[in-house]
Amino acid sequence: MIVADPAIAVDVLASGRLCAIPTETVYGLAANALNPQAVAAVFEAKNRPTNHPLIVHIAAMDALDLWIHDLPGWAHELAEAAWPGPLTLVGPSTSLASDAITGGQETVAVRIPDHHLTLEVLTRLHELEVHGVVAPSANRFGHVSPTTAQHVQNDLGEYLAAHDGVILDGGPCRVGVESTIVLATHNAPTILRPGGITRKFISEVTGLEILESTSHSPRVSGTLDSHYAPQARVTLLNTAEFDNQVHTKNPELSGAGLIAYRETATPDGMVRLCAPASAQEYAHELYGALRLADQQDLDSIIVVVPTDDGVAEAIRDRLQRAAF
Ligand code: TXA
Ligand code: MG
Repeated sequence: MIVADPAIAVDVLASGRLCAIPTETVYGLAANALNPQAVAAVFEAKNRPTNHPLIVHIAAMDALDLWIHDLPGWAHELAEAAWPGPLTLVGPSTSLASDAITGGQETVAVRIPDHHLTLEVLTRLHELEVHGVVAPSANRFGHVSPTTAQHVQNDLGEYLAAHDGVILDGGPCRVGVESTIVLATHNAPTILRPGGITRKFISEVTGLEILESTSHSPRVSGTLDSHYAPQARVTLLNTAEFDNQVHTKNPELSGAGLIAYRETATPDGMVRLCAPASAQEYAHELYGALRLADQQDLDSIIVVVPTDDGVAEAIRDRLQRAAF
């Protein structure tokens, strides 16, 4: 059931049921982080392998210490600058975070999302001593993340209806790609997953050089080779490659979906899925466009990949996994 009243979401979550919540990035499938059965239901609903850890969403900075201990100073400054907003910090976990949440690791992921309805829900839950909700993206595991309440309904509506869960409708998500996940266990940041907060912002706020992610860095399921994938086959091209295919009238283009910046014209026979004018718009429209291709039963999607920096880094990351 799709609802608009945050008070319903508070009741549902406080009683241990699941509620999809709007955030600025994508919709999350939320459960009381302190209730083991509720956390287990999140994995069941998504069909998510249990060793993939979850992000804890909190209302305000004062709940951070309940989850993470000994956060480095630079990470505190970054959180102050970015929250509420599309940043997730992974730091040393307190005993409050169960193994189900951390995937049995020593670290836990935490963020304050930037959506007025969800902040209201989190604040009221905090007053009820529910000091956070876990919330992975509210899609079936491996599928495209949802950026509207209807996307959640399409993926998880049946499960939620059968288990008295609800979807809180907060409109389309402003950013459209997930949060940037930053490892905060060293003396400088490591980006585990690029996202809504840019590399430039992180280095400017912290004044630190960003460390490279290594095979010793913690597992991030959003960095599996194949993830964020629609049914249709996704092919990534740069502008020159695309122009060449148009020029040579490659029959593969016929009937395929097209995702590209607005300046790229739609060749005859292709189905335009979105035409963003900036990297922000590209991020905002990407997941909806991938889902639209499946709704229209397209076999193939051609994507002209953005080459700029900023949030385009996250777009490229997701596209590579969608195309794998
Ligand atoms: O924008 C977002 O981050 C959205 C919204 C709903 O907040 N959430 C989201 O959750 O993208 P999910 O579960 O789809 O992706 C969370 C990622 C996973 O790749 C997971 O592996 C990683 O966070 N993660 C969670 N806890 C971690 C930890 N302790 N160490 C390393 N990675 C962790
Ligand atoms: Mg996800």
